[in-house]
Amino acid sequence: MRKKITVVGAGMVGGTTAQRLAEKNYADVVLVDIVEGLPQGKALDLLESGPILGYDTHLIGTNGYEETANSDIAILTSGVARKPGMSRDDLLYTNMDIVRGVTQEIARRSPNCILIVVSNPLDAMTQLAYEVSRFPKQRVIGMAGALDSARFGTFIARELDVSVEDVNAFVLGGHGDTMVPLSRYSTVAGIPITELLPAERVRAIEQRARDGGAEIVSLLKTGSAYYAPSAAIVQMVDAIVSDKKKILPCAVMLEGEYGIKGLFVGVPVKLGAGGVEAIFEIQLTADEHASLQRSAAAVAELVEKMKTRTT
Ligand code: 2OP
Repeated sequence: MRKKITVVGAGMVGGTTAQRLAEKNYADVVLVDIVEGLPQGKALDLLESGPILGYDTHLIGTNGYEETANSDIAILTSGVARKPGMSRDDLLYTNMDIVRGVTQEIARRSPNCILIVVSNPLDAMTQLAYEVSRFPKQRVIGMAGALDSARFGTFIARELDVSVEDVNAFVLGGHGDTMVPLSRYSTVAGIPITELLPAERVRAIEQRARDGGAEIVSLLKTGSAYYAPSAAIVQMVDAIVSDKKKILPCAVMLEGEYGIKGLFVGVPVKLGAGGVEAIFEIQLTADEHASLQRSAAAVAELVEKMKTRTT
């Protein structure tokens, strides 16, 4: 039987994710949104693209959750996106209500699914989905590191005028202004970029990666990025559906790794059919370690804010 993937939120990220998944042709897709007609319209439009593109993906759009029952993977993209000048953290209170409600609906009907959280502020929303779903930590994963690393990788490839295929970029930490691009572990054909570029260019590219989401928001003005975010989501789904055992940075629950406890933060993990199958602890310099701790502290602050709101 084909796998079933639910995408909650039929906005630009959710709609583009549904499109990319449909074109993969390995699972059926349920697209959910509260806006009447929006998920139905996008799902039908994508279904009608099948004969041209040669996929048999069955897509359903719905305003409810009945059709999502027994999903293998559920992707949470719902919530408001930021406007120019806003940080991802400004979305906390609005999006936590949305993510809590969506997680309850999904967890009840698909108790064995893997949850991929995309709503911002990403790490805090993933933590909320974990607490609300009560799923094992292996099955709740935040999508951020794959996106941030893709942005970092893009800028490395452009700077050195090399193929993106030769670039392996790594960004750790929370999906926010304190994210930690790890240049020592970011390579071109196996060569660390710190060997290929002067230090000031490395710093400049790291900063552009940190500001990558905001750069798109300031250009689009009415919303945030969706092509690269949806590509990053599907990279994670590919790893799970094909049991690839792929190593990607993802926001996962840390229980002592990197000295961080009880918090979702982006670190390198092995993604396969079971979700997070291993967490890798790599050697960090004192500076890198301090940056990761700062990033984790920023996530912890948001998690604390959520607690004061709910109690
Ligand atoms: C981004 O970085 C929306 O957080 C997302 O573009």
